[in-house]
Amino acid sequence: MSQGGLLPHVLTAFSGGRVLDVATGHGDFAFALARNLAGYDEIIGIDTNEKELETAREAAKQQLLNRVRFFARDAEELGFEDASFDTVTISNSLHHMKSPGTVLSGMRRVLRPGGLFIVREMYRDKQNKAQMSHVLFHTFRADIDTLKGITHRKSYLRDELYQMYQGLGLSSLEVFDVGPEDIEPPIDPMDNDNIEHLVQMVDTMLEHPADYNRDQTFKVRGQELKNYFRTNGFLPATSLVAIGRKPG
Ligand SMILES: C[S@@+](CC[C@H](N)C(=O)[O-])C[C@H]1O[C@@H](n2cnc3c(N)ncnc32)[C@H](O)[C@@H]1O
Repeated sequence: MSQGGLLPHVLTAFSGGRVLDVATGHGDFAFALARNLAGYDEIIGIDTNEKELETAREAAKQQLLNRVRFFARDAEELGFEDASFDTVTISNSLHHMKSPGTVLSGMRRVLRPGGLFIVREMYRDKQNKAQMSHVLFHTFRADIDTLKGITHRKSYLRDELYQMYQGLGLSSLEVFDVGPEDIEPPIDPMDNDNIEHLVQMVDTMLEHPADYNRDQTFKVRGQELKNYFRTNGFLPATSLVAIGRKPG
């Protein structure tokens, strides 16, 4: 589910220079950076999932973005030189990390003094009923991944993120919510295509011949989720964003 549309109005205020997007997936956030930053020299997206990276590379080619490149690399072992980036970003991925603290301190290490640090992460509380479709779907997916042995925790609470961002040691720190009300054109929560897309994703997960399917609780949860989506609609969950600069 792409949330690349949730931040553009904020990005236009900043020039990126050399940018690192950590755990870039198929590049939605990297492309949002490319389209909306006031300028950038290059954007490097890293991820451990080669299939996602291939999709990202193909999308960069299609969009003629030849200064947006994607590489396989573990966020917990960044390995780039100290102070070698002007901007570091991580979007909706901290909850995938075994050690979010290690990832954030690695990002800080590779950021030059005065460089820009952007973190965005959706949270699971304080959401309306349509947004809870997103949160509940995410928790379902995270629980299935966990059973498969993949690190994937449910979304953080807003206050957990707030505390984490305060601990980044950034100057000029701004912490703020970005939600569906920031998307243009507005999304209709009862849009049938969006709801049925979500239903389809649950069905696909339940068809998968994996161990979790022997556990009937997932089938029951899947059915309850689909009913919830159809009754309450769907909107993207609100995220908490931190933007600040590395002192020095
Ligand atoms: C929700 S997706 C990425 C979303 C993307 N940043 C965006 O905002 O559109 C989370 C990504 O984290 C990646 N990931 C998980 N553990 C990782 C690690 N240790 N190093 C790099 N990437 C990792 C996964 O492969 C997945 O692509």
